Amino acid sequence: MRQIRSQLLGTGYFLPSKVMTNDDLSRIVDTSDEWISTRTGIKSRCIAADDEYTSALCVNAAKKAIANSEIAVEDIDFIIVATVTPDNTFPSTAAKVGKLLGIKNGAAAMDVNAACSGFVYATQVADNMIRLGQIKTALVIGAETLSKITDWTDRNTCVLFGDGAGAAVLAGYEAEGNNTDKGILATKIYSDVSHYDTLCSDSGVSINQRSGFIHMDGKEVFRMAIPALVQGVEETLSLANLTASDIDWYIPHQANLRIIDSVAKKLNLPMEKVIVTVDHHGNTSAASIPLALAESIENGKIKPGNIIAISSMGAGFTWGGIIIRV
Ligand code: UT7
Repeated sequence: MRQIRSQLLGTGYFLPSKVMTNDDLSRIVDTSDEWISTRTGIKSRCIAADDEYTSALCVNAAKKAIANSEIAVEDIDFIIVATVTPDNTFPSTAAKVGKLLGIKNGAAAMDVNAACSGFVYATQVADNMIRLGQIKTALVIGAETLSKITDWTDRNTCVLFGDGAGAAVLAGYEAEGNNTDKGILATKIYSDVSHYDTLCSDSGVSINQRSGFIHMDGKEVFRMAIPALVQGVEETLSLANLTASDIDWYIPHQANLRIIDSVAKKLNLPMEKVIVTVDHHGNTSAASIPLALAESIENGKIKPGNIIAISSMGAGFTWGGIIIRV
């Protein structure tokens, strides 16, 4: 039966110009390129300048996504930014992005905080609003300046994270209503909030008026990430009436190459079908998926018509998946 679906019109990404290598880190804390590379797969990450805010990363990524979508900013009627590193406690970074882009058409603007799953959560919200006919065109962004909430004396965490932003423009169209359609074919989001303290900021505005630093029980996150990422793919594939063999590319949350390897094995996906950017992005939380998506479209890996499976997992714990035909 014919139905409205959300089509991916275009994507864009932005990375700060400062690149920090593992060797750079080994001059700050007691670590080594060997340890970071073998335990995580990370080689380098980008770090925002002191006066380079999350909103600036968003705007740079959004401008590219808007240009690639061949729409005007006035066509956007919803701006949603997934981030745990907003410019201000309030208003939302999405409102700042709208202001900086010069959007004056009354488009709704809000942030979503679902940590590393933020872009998947934001996409589900935008997709549902499009399919309900409440909006036509959404600007969905995942962006972080995690370097600003990183304790640069803690080697357990400071080697893992990076800064960046990825943006996607989604727009409604009337589709056939089957899995040969273009656009978002399924989404699903989850949480297990009993793990609230396993990965968190160690402060908060309501607790002590500070934003705090990233605190993580890495081993526990690692253990939980693998089944969560697998579930995000398997259940969305099933909702879309597809199987793993239909996937052209899998984009997992980019936190650790060992996690990605293990998830690919469980899904029976060869690594040739898995997008890996953690080596040069590090873990960019909510920006990780849209950065990997936009970069892989730009470099020609992902081609029109490809079926992409996405899954992400992070603090909360939150996790989720998306199946999209680009
Ligand atoms: O984005 C949300 C999702 N986040 C994740 O998915 C992160 C999941 N967790 C991980 O990726 C891994 O648990 C880590 C990369 C964080 C840590 O890897 P691990 O293999 O679990 O190492 P570990 O924490 O067990 O530490 C092993 C050793 C320890 O030394 P001892 O106690 O064995 O002597 C650590 O003190 O490595 C030491 N270590 C380091 N050594 C050099 C910890 N960090 C470092 C470091 N450089 N940066």
